[in-house]
Amino acid sequence: MGKLNILDHPLVKHKITLLRSKHTDVQLFRQLMQELSMMLAYEATRSIPVEKKICETPLMQAEAYMISTEKLAIVPILRAGLGMVDGLLSFMPMAKVGHIGLYRDHESLLPVEYYCKLPENISDMEVFIVDPMLATGGSVAKAIDIVKQKGAKHIRFLCVVSCPEGVECLQKAHHDVEIFTCALDKGLNEKGYILPGLGDAGDRLYGTK
Ligand code: PRP
Ligand code: URA
Repeated sequence: MGKLNILDHPLVKHKITLLRSKHTDVQLFRQLMQELSMMLAYEATRSIPVEKKICETPLMQAEAYMISTEKLAIVPILRAGLGMVDGLLSFMPMAKVGHIGLYRDHESLLPVEYYCKLPENISDMEVFIVDPMLATGGSVAKAIDIVKQKGAKHIRFLCVVSCPEGVECLQKAHHDVEIFTCALDKGLNEKGYILPGLGDAGDRLYGTK
């Protein structure tokens, strides 16, 4: 079963409280989303492979370790996932970025695909799928289906707010995918919104409502 990692850090708790507040404006919301994404990136990259190198210090040769930066791929689920990309890129500036466009049908709550562009060699890469909200789990499960169809094998999912329904759905659909989240909330309301949640992440990021 894909491990669930809930970030337990005072800075995360503080920032997510500000993010949830209905009094937080678009500008601060974007900034907080980026900062929380950096913290998720820090945790989610703990287990990526490193290669042994030799480094010349001013004094001597040293055994050193580096990441294969060309093997990192960030894949946001549009639209709200875009709000997390810069946070991850600040730690992994050489990463490739793919995009998957999905929206939830308001009636069925099922994801509808409208765009997909992924790095060519994604099958060899460490893939970080990002979306702030894990609600029913339908969107991320579909996004992972898509990257797996292209051959991806090493996949992690990073989200800011999750709930038990979404975690269960994702763990059932893709037991090999590790999940990193800043908060595990109570559950979903009848419209598929996370409670207490933060509302509609896309609308809050882009000021569309
Ligand atoms: C939101 C969110 C996720 C999805 C989560 O996107 O960003 O992609 O809902 O819900 P699920 O776990 O039940 O699938 P939305 O469909 O509102 O599209 P948007 O990002 O374009 O606003
Ligand atoms: N998508 C959102 O943006 N928010 C939710 O609470 C659920 C799905």
